Amino acid sequence: MTRRVCVIGWPVAHSRSPVIHNHWIAEYGIEDAEYVRFAVAPDGAGETIRNLQALGYIGANVTVPHKEVAFAALGRHDAMARRLKAVNTIVTLADGCLEGRNTDGYGFIANLKDRAARWRADKGPAVILGAGGAARAIAAALEDEGAPEIRIVNRTAGRAEALIEEIGLKSARVIPAAQTAKALEGAGLLVNTTTLGMKGENDVEIDLSPLPQTALVTDIVYTPLETGLLRRAREAGHETVDGLGMLLHQAVPGFEAWFGVRPEVTDELRRLVLADIAGK
Ligand code: ATR
Repeated sequence: MTRRVCVIGWPVAHSRSPVIHNHWIAEYGIEDAEYVRFAVAPDGAGETIRNLQALGYIGANVTVPHKEVAFAALGRHDAMARRLKAVNTIVTLADGCLEGRNTDGYGFIANLKDRAARWRADKGPAVILGAGGAARAIAAALEDEGAPEIRIVNRTAGRAEALIEEIGLKSARVIPAAQTAKALEGAGLLVNTTTLGMKGENDVEIDLSPLPQTALVTDIVYTPLETGLLRRAREAGHETVDGLGMLLHQAVPGFEAWFGVRPEVTDELRRLVLADIAGK
């Protein structure tokens, strides 16, 4: 029987997940496997997700704007999905039930470990720019990895306060955007989770000079691959990691759960996804 998996989003044409998973399906010679895009309008998203198996799917990825709806639609979750109240991966368990999981934070950490081998979360405070869905996943994962302190800087301070409370961060604080320089002092990591720096948007314009030379700088934006923030950080002598690897690594646990093979994130896969982005 064909094992069919989809990525659910609205719109979903931009999703790179099919490129990633179909590459691995071919690479590992998985027979009778199929990974497709599934455009689902907000209206029917919860019902579609609940009926995934009847629609012929053993699992799914969930992308914008359905991650929270997917959480609410499913009765079983892993610990991270429960904490974030958001699901990006759905699997069928051994007992036949669907489970919602969240692998975004895993993808973030795995990317840093892959591309900045010496970096460790417990070496210093982490500064997160932004307080949206991506920031939540990253903050929770950094705390689990042992970050001694998490400093959240967001244009709307109230959203940062809510983030800390809702995911129960223990050593986190909100730093007003006007005091970004203070947030950078003594930090071991700076991550941009805002949409600033994307093609067509303004860049992150903070002054990096208060950031210790040893701090790693990363961005979840990957179009362009080197954002203005990453370029300035590199020119100032910081180690930098681009955001493409987070997308690639977050896909690993899902593929393993659906098809029984733990896939590898390779340079070839990176090139393939970059070519796909460039072609559109
Ligand atoms: P996601 O779920 O992908 O993380 P989101 O929930 O839309 O995306 O969050 C986007 C983040 O980018 C937010 O932190 C947002 O700041 P606000 O909470 O103040 O809206 C931030 N952001 C977007 N545009 C911005 C801008 N022009 N200047 C500063 N921050 C911006």
